[in-house]
Amino acid sequence: MADSSPASFLTRANAILRKNLTYQKRNIWSNVRLIMIPFYLCIVLVCIQALVDSQVNKSVDYQCGCKCIDKIGNGKCEMVCGIEYSTRDQGVFCAIPKPQPWPPLILIPRPQARAFDSSFTDDSCRRKNTCPVTILFTGNNQSLGAIMSRNLLTRSFIMNSSDLLFSLANNVLATTYKGSATNYIDAGIVSDLSIYNIQPRCPTMSNFSFSLGQSPLNFTKEMRCVQGLNLWRNSSIEVNDELFKGYQKGNSNGMVHEIVSGYDLLDTNKTNYNVNIWYNATYKGVSGNKPFKLVRVPRLVNLVSNAYLQYLKGPGTKMLFEFVKEMPKQETRLRLDIASLIGPTFFTWVILLLLPVILTSLVYEKQQRLRIIMKMHGLGDGPYWVISYAYFLAISTLYIICLMIFGSAIGLKFFLLNDFTFQFIFYFLCINLQISIAFLVSSAFSKVETASVAAYLYVFGSGLLGTFLFQFMLEGSSFPRHWIFVMELFPGFSLYRGLYEFSQNAYQGNLNGTNRMKWKDFSDTEMAEVFYIIIVEWFIALIAAYYIDKISSSRKDPLCFLKNLNFFKNSPSSQRPSLGKQISAVSVEMEKIDVIQENEKVEQLMLEPSTSYAIVCDNLKKVYPGRDGNPPKKAVRGLSLAVPSGECFGMLGPNGAGKTSFINMMTGLQKPTSGTGLVHGLDICNDMDKVYTSMGVCPQHDLLWETLTGRDHLLFYGRLKNLKGSDLNQAVEESLKSVNLFHGGVADKPAGKYSGGMKRRLSVAISLIGSPKVVYMDEPSTGLDPASRMNLWTVIKRAKKNSAIILTTHSMEEAEFLCDRLGIFVDGRLQCIGNPKELKGRYGGFYVLTMTTASEHEKDVEMLVQDVSPNAKKIYHIAGTQKFEIPKEEVRISEVFQAVEKAKSNFKVFAWGLVNTTLEDVFIKVAKTGQAFNVFS
Ligand SMILES: *[C@@H]1O[C@H](CO)[C@@H](O)[C@H](O)[C@H]1NC(C)=O
Ligand SMILES: *[C@@H]1O[C@H](CO)[C@@H](O)[C@H](O)[C@H]1NC(C)=O
Ligand SMILES: *[C@@H]1O[C@H](CO)[C@@H](O)[C@H](O)[C@H]1NC(C)=O
Ligand SMILES: *[C@@H]1O[C@H](CO)[C@@H](O)[C@H](O)[C@H]1NC(C)=O
Repeated sequence: MADSSPASFLTRANAILRKNLTYQKRNIWSNVRLIMIPFYLCIVLVCIQALVDSQVNKSVDYQCGCKCIDKIGNGKCEMVCGIEYSTRDQGVFCAIPKPQPWPPLILIPRPQARAFDSSFTDDSCRRKNTCPVTILFTGNNQSLGAIMSRNLLTRSFIMNSSDLLFSLANNVLATTYKGSATNYIDAGIVSDLSIYNIQPRCPTMSNFSFSLGQSPLNFTKEMRCVQGLNLWRNSSIEVNDELFKGYQKGNSNGMVHEIVSGYDLLDTNKTNYNVNIWYNATYKGVSGNKPFKLVRVPRLVNLVSNAYLQYLKGPGTKMLFEFVKEMPKQETRLRLDIASLIGPTFFTWVILLLLPVILTSLVYEKQQRLRIIMKMHGLGDGPYWVISYAYFLAISTLYIICLMIFGSAIGLKFFLLNDFTFQFIFYFLCINLQISIAFLVSSAFSKVETASVAAYLYVFGSGLLGTFLFQFMLEGSSFPRHWIFVMELFPGFSLYRGLYEFSQNAYQGNLNGTNRMKWKDFSDTEMAEVFYIIIVEWFIALIAAYYIDKISSSRKDPLCFLKNLNFFKNSPSSQRPSLGKQISAVSVEMEKIDVIQENEKVEQLMLEPSTSYAIVCDNLKKVYPGRDGNPPKKAVRGLSLAVPSGECFGMLGPNGAGKTSFINMMTGLQKPTSGTGLVHGLDICNDMDKVYTSMGVCPQHDLLWETLTGRDHLLFYGRLKNLKGSDLNQAVEESLKSVNLFHGGVADKPAGKYSGGMKRRLSVAISLIGSPKVVYMDEPSTGLDPASRMNLWTVIKRAKKNSAIILTTHSMEEAEFLCDRLGIFVDGRLQCIGNPKELKGRYGGFYVLTMTTASEHEKDVEMLVQDVSPNAKKIYHIAGTQKFEIPKEEVRISEVFQAVEKAKSNFKVFAWGLVNTTLEDVFIKVAKTGQAFNVFS
């Protein structure tokens, strides 16, 4: 029936794949719910967007040409409409048929950043904010340069309020504020910063206020004078050098020395006008990464042209640059894309939400010991990894695709304004990283609850820290870039960064018309960096996770290996005698001769291995290290045992005797402290993976998937045992029938709905499917009704034919019925070993007489027993009920009967009985002597 060769990688992968698929099919609704989460979240976004839109439409601030004016002064305002547009924000979306003119400005450095030449001024100007601004000149003819630089700035300040712009055009106006995207209102004029006029020498008391623009867009500005220094440099190389040093980095003392602009007059002369201009167009990190801002360069050009004109035609000639004015424009709908604004935080959560799902599922299999039980039935790490990874990847990919589809379907700009493949690849890399991280950290958790709490903390923490810390640093241009890189190494932040770039792009694109992030922008944007970080981390996490998993689950534990080495170095002959001595020294009692014989048999087998023995344990020991000041606990104190194929070996013993520790060692759950075990010649220290392929385990606690049916379980484990096709179906059917789970549709009910007894039977069926060569059963029949138990016993008896079975039990009936040999295990040692009859004979040899009388007749009963057998022992006595052990050789049953009949005529006997020794009596006796013995030893 069963193919004896172990299942191949593919077969096992197929088995777990099918199991997972069935599992998912049974959990279909939770999967659907998971995939629908993006949908719900997108709906939430749409609702928020609708809410914002309606608020925007209602709000006065967003109604073009309206303004709230407090006319009476009582704090309540009245809406006044009919003006072109009222606030700077409205300039973005309102119609502007007649834009206002504004004076053209030059960008000058902030007072603290200005270059100063120590030969002209001392550095106290920085404190007083009075540093001059520097303009550099160079060219082929220095005397021409001197004339031009003299013409550049006007000596006196001219302003005529009746024609403000015209008069201002005679002066050189400047601001420290960078230009904005449009010039409907100049950012430098709206800002609180003052406007400067650059003069060769500032008069005292040169600050005054003036008003600019027409109502409602009129601004009162402060005008300050700033000294302009025009300096000659011998070559353009020098100018370049000086501009370069203006940056903080370029300067040795770390100070900023910024310069307004530089003019290279080249070969300009009377007939030739040829100029190069340096100006500052650095706008990095302002919005997205794209310099959308207007550069303040036209006035610089005009200045030098005007100076040249005056050089040619004399000081009276002027070429005035009166104002700048934007193009008129139509009204555009205000589109505040909420998804882009809160997108990074929101979608960080959405995508990271998969992590807790994956992590808890991995930890669940670990916590419920499902992983280890699968392993015991031959599922190697390879197939488990590949299939689990593929499965999580598939479901995550589906999730992401749904997110993108839903998001695009409801029109979120976040998705629509970025290239789809670009987005998909990014998300795909992120979920791969996420899955490998889940694998990596799952080894650190043993409880589902802690794992899920930690995972949710990570999810929400990443989103919030991303918003309030990371984004803040990203936007602040002063934060060193390499620290941003370091922060991106944290996977939550690299995801956040990617989403942030998408949202910036979408937000800008939405305001300025479509502009998608495409592959060709890949290297300009800082996305490339994020991509590389994610890919590298993905590989590292995968490798680390695999390695850690190998260490934690591998039986190839270095200590175990060393111990074996020692064992082989000391030749068996040198070690055995001492062992033998030790045993004979402690076994004062003759009964232990059987245990000694077993030891000798094992020694023999270790020297000349025999194929007929399926399980050989050689002096197995397990010591748990002492905790909290308690001495180390010796759970198993040296167990030698040989179980041939076809034998069922029963392990009896009181609770805590070490039976479960022994089974755990044999099934690879725990490492032996010393000694070893061989299963069909394979060492449990080194070859556990091979042992697993021919092993069946029925653990003490049922390890089942709640949602899988009994049939699913058997199909899965059958496949792991290399059963295929009709063999598999037949085996499963037989197995179900044999444990009484076939009829009435029980086989197709989820195991979670089974009663305790049904689960137990299923566990036994699982351990026996595929005819494993060795089977361990830890109390297989606990909690079963007598009929089912009988049934189960027949199954086990039948399975015994080609397997070696080790079972532990507390039921003497079961032991007697099933086991060919029994060992009674007390305090980590075998106290005796043999078949049930032998044991009874050896430890029994008594009849047990029980008699109940009135308590005043107790003495009479004692006398009576004494008469029958002088060596009888009283073993139990309470309220008139007494129990005596009567050696078999001293009495015949008929004598006892006669004696009792005689007694009955003398006093009243309520009840009496005479029984042969049972296994139970043997057990109690052995357990007692064993424990007593160990107390003294
Ligand atoms: C330099 O410019 C001055 C002033 O215009 C002019 O007189 C002189 O000839 C120029 N020199 C050269 C070498 O062109
Ligand atoms: C100001 O300009 C007006 C109109 O151009 C002119 O009449 C007036 O004289 C000017 N005032 C001064 C002080 O220049
Ligand atoms: C610039 O050239 C002039 C005249 O050729 C010379 O005196 C001066 O030292 C030079 N300056 C520098 C900084 O090289
Ligand atoms: C150009 O302007 C930016 C922004 O104001 C400033 O950070 C930078 O230092 C300036 N560069 C020079 C060379 O002045």
